[in-house]
Order: sequence, then C-alpha cells, then structure tokens
Amino acid sequence: MRMHTLICAALGACVMAATPALAETKLKIFVSSQHQPDVWRKMLDAYEAQNPDVTVTIETGGNTSDAQAQYLNTVMSAKDPNLDVLMLDVIRPAQYAAAGWTMHFPDKDMSAYLPTYAEANTVNGETVALPAFADAMFLYYRKDLLDKYGITLPKTWEELAAAAKTVSDGEGAAAADLQGLSFQGKAIEGAVCTFLLPYWSQGKQLVSDGKLDFDKEAATRSLALWKSFVDEGIAKKNISEVATDDTRKEFQAGKVLFAVNWSYAWKHFQGPDSAVAGKVGVARLPALGGGEQSTCLGGWEFGVSAYSEHPEEAKRLAEYLSGPDVSKYMAVNGSLLPTYAGLYTDADVTAAAPWLADALPVVETARARPVTPRYNEVSEIIRTTVNSVLAGVKSPEDGAAEMESRLRRVLR
Ligand code: GLC
Repeated sequence: MRMHTLICAALGACVMAATPALAETKLKIFVSSQHQPDVWRKMLDAYEAQNPDVTVTIETGGNTSDAQAQYLNTVMSAKDPNLDVLMLDVIRPAQYAAAGWTMHFPDKDMSAYLPTYAEANTVNGETVALPAFADAMFLYYRKDLLDKYGITLPKTWEELAAAAKTVSDGEGAAAADLQGLSFQGKAIEGAVCTFLLPYWSQGKQLVSDGKLDFDKEAATRSLALWKSFVDEGIAKKNISEVATDDTRKEFQAGKVLFAVNWSYAWKHFQGPDSAVAGKVGVARLPALGGGEQSTCLGGWEFGVSAYSEHPEEAKRLAEYLSGPDVSKYMAVNGSLLPTYAGLYTDADVTAAAPWLADALPVVETARARPVTPRYNEVSEIIRTTVNSVLAGVKSPEDGAAEMESRLRRVLR
C-alpha cells in the first residue's frame, strides 16, 4: 500500500506525491473462546482505527481453561512466534513467566488495578502480565421461582437443598426438566474450585507457606456435599460430565434453579436467545452450615509472548486492552468484571449488570487457588478426584485420602 502526501513547495504550488506507507504490523492475540471474543473484537476494531498501521487477528481454541492451556503449552514449547498476545487464566502468569514464555513490562505502575490482580501478575517484583478482567464464582438463581414460593436466598448449602426441594415439589410435573443445582463436576480446572468452595468454607487452607496444609475431614465433607446433591436428585446424575459452559447453557435454557458460575454467564442470560432474561439473580455462594461464605478467585490476564516478532507493538496492544476504557466496555457489553475498583459503581456498568454494584466485595474477599510452580499437578489431582467421586467411582473418604497422599508427593 502507498500513501499520498500533499507536498507544498516554497512557491505555493502543491503536488500529490506518493510516499511509502508505514509498514503494517500484524498481531495475533489468543482470546479464551468462552470470554466473549466477539466483544473483544469490537475493541480491537477500535484499536485498528486508532492505529492504521496495525492489524490484529483473534485466535481462540479450547472450551475450558485447561484445554486452552494445553494448546498454548504446545505453541509456547515450540517457541512459535505466531501468537503475540496471550489471554491467560489468573493461575498461569507466574508459570508462564517461570518458563520464560512471556515478557516483562518494566516499570509498569500496577497501582490502578485491584490489588489481587496487581499481585497475581507480579513475580519477583516484575510485572509479567496485565489484567484483562476480574472474576469470581457466584450463585445464579431463578428469582421468579424463589419469589413464587416465598423462598429467601439460601446462605448455606443445606438451605439451598431445602429450597430446591420446595420448588421441585411445588412445580410437580413441570419440575421433571428442572435441575435444582448445576455445578462443574467434569475433570476441568473449574472442578478445583468446586472442591475448594466448601473446603474453604470450613475455614481451611490447602497450602500455607508453600507447604500442604490438608484437612482430610474437611476435604471429605466437601466431596460428600457435592455427592449428596447427586444422590438426592438435586443435581443431575451425570454432573460428572458437566463443564462450565454446560451449566451456563442449561441455566439459560430455563432448566436450572441454582447454578454455580462465573461472571461471563450473566451476559448470555440477558440475550434474545435466553429463556431466563429478567428472571435471574446473582448472589454470594452459600456456606457449609456453621462455616463462612467463600468463593474462588478467577480472572484472566494478557501476557506478551517471548517469541513475538513485534514485542513493542504487542505490549502496546496489551496496555490498551488492559486499560479502564476497555475494562468498562467489556463489563457493559460482556459482563466481565472490571479490574478497576471504581468501575463497579459506574452508572453505565450497573445499568447493564445491576449485580455488579455488589460484586466488588465478593472479588476482594475471593480466595486464590494455591500459588505453586507445580500448580498443574495440584489441579490435576483435585479435579480428577472430584470427578471420580461424583461419578460414583470413589467414596468421598477414599477420594480425600487419595487426594492427600498424592498432594503430599507434589507439595512437600
Ligand atoms: C473462569 C475463571 C478462571 C477459572 C476458570 C475455571 O474462567 O475466570 O480463573 O480457572 O473459570 O473453569
């Protein structure tokens, strides 16, 4: 492409002269397929309009965090320069930095972000990635059905089970196609959080000072709780096959009373192809009786590939995508939680997703999954155990005992 520049000579005569165009930079960004790539695309279009010498294409792949990580691990191990910017689950920037797969952002001031995310992206004092959006697990519920039966919002899992039974009895035959609760039982990353929710709720930790701090009783109770939902018919029989987006789709189709899910789901529930628009509430997840309400911290970050052939342009793009304007746009149009505290009460944000007005304290008190260089192994042990207990292959006691001995070998 050539550009024409108007050149005016001293005598006032102007001519159009052909000048070489700015070299075009082509960037590719990996975006999690579950997290509204179409909405990110709009922000990339705006970036291209402001930077005519840059084009950005999106790549997506894998429907879960772990499937995406598997793909990215292959790309990065091969030192493939094809991807410039990578959207990474909050559990991964430290691992990617340790592997030398991402570049640092020297002297980046992280103080504008929520402290949790400034921390998650800082390794040994270096900024290794920039926040894309915040996240936490919430309880989605059918406001219309709770209202119909005069049920107050459950604060414990026991109250939730009772509420599910009341609705199921009241709805009679209509309840045949209504699950009381949907959560993630498939052996995916989300099932690590499934396990941790009731475990943490008992005031327990998994790791302290980098060492395993496992409470077998609490772990058994957590696994037994989830299994009891299946045994009592509150969750569906094959919950061990349910991943995050399955929960989202089934709730959206009007087939679920209570659902455990992340922030992205809200946007889908409001759309024209939702059976539940206007009928959805979002709240803190319940506690185990006698325990505290706790949730799992999620979120995604932008890393710049160490193998990018355009590192400066890629960093500039990551800075833009991580900025407050884009964060606001993604909250309004994609219900992805902002990484800037002030945006939770922004009028446009709360008009689009009123529950965000109460979401900040949930994010601020959400607990992080263990930070360890061997997180992949920790994750695999937990999620496969949750899955086999729910599939009825292992008892909660055996699952907890096995989890402990396997975790002990990884986290000494
Ligand atoms: C959400 C969270 C992410 C988590 C994943 C698990 O995407 O933001 O942190 O690991 O769900 O399924």
